[in-house]
Amino acid sequence: MTVTEEVLDLYQRGGNDAYFGEDVTQLQHALQAAASAVEAHADDELVVAALLHDIGHLLPGDNYHDEIGVVDHDQTCIEWLTARGFSARLIALVSGHVSAKRYLVTTRAEYRNRLSPTSQRTLELQGGAMTPVEVKAFETHLHFRDVLRLRAWDEQAKDPGRTVPGLETYLPRIELILAQA
Ligand SMILES: [Fe+2]
Repeated sequence: MTVTEEVLDLYQRGGNDAYFGEDVTQLQHALQAAASAVEAHADDELVVAALLHDIGHLLPGDNYHDEIGVVDHDQTCIEWLTARGFSARLIALVSGHVSAKRYLVTTRAEYRNRLSPTSQRTLELQGGAMTPVEVKAFETHLHFRDVLRLRAWDEQAKDPGRTVPGLETYLPRIELILAQA
């Protein structure tokens, strides 16, 4: 199976599951995040990172939690992406999206209130607010700005009424960035 076939297969099997506590499915959530990246003129790698940012939730894992799916989905996801030849930047973008939430909660007073109820609950399971040392470390993240952009698209991608292009739209981009990685 090629990587694009595998992505299609993962979404065919798990894509119709609800995106935890929200009114959209996993597939809709991924497609909306990717569509926002395209609208923002993000480069191909960042678009694919937006598309695949929660792919860890669709991968088989033992650590299942009813509310937020695979608890260590971050690590599972990094391993999956690495094994398929995705670039270090794409992996850093995907794995940075949970830290970005913790960072924004810590550094922007209003941010916590803007999170959906589920996202506020899962925040604690994800480590809660950052310490000052963690904040400083996060600000040196190689792709700091892009990770924050990805986080914003992630949060917007929970709109049950939004219509966006389908998964097949992104397959050539996945092939392209894998060829370049
Ligand atoms: Fe997400």
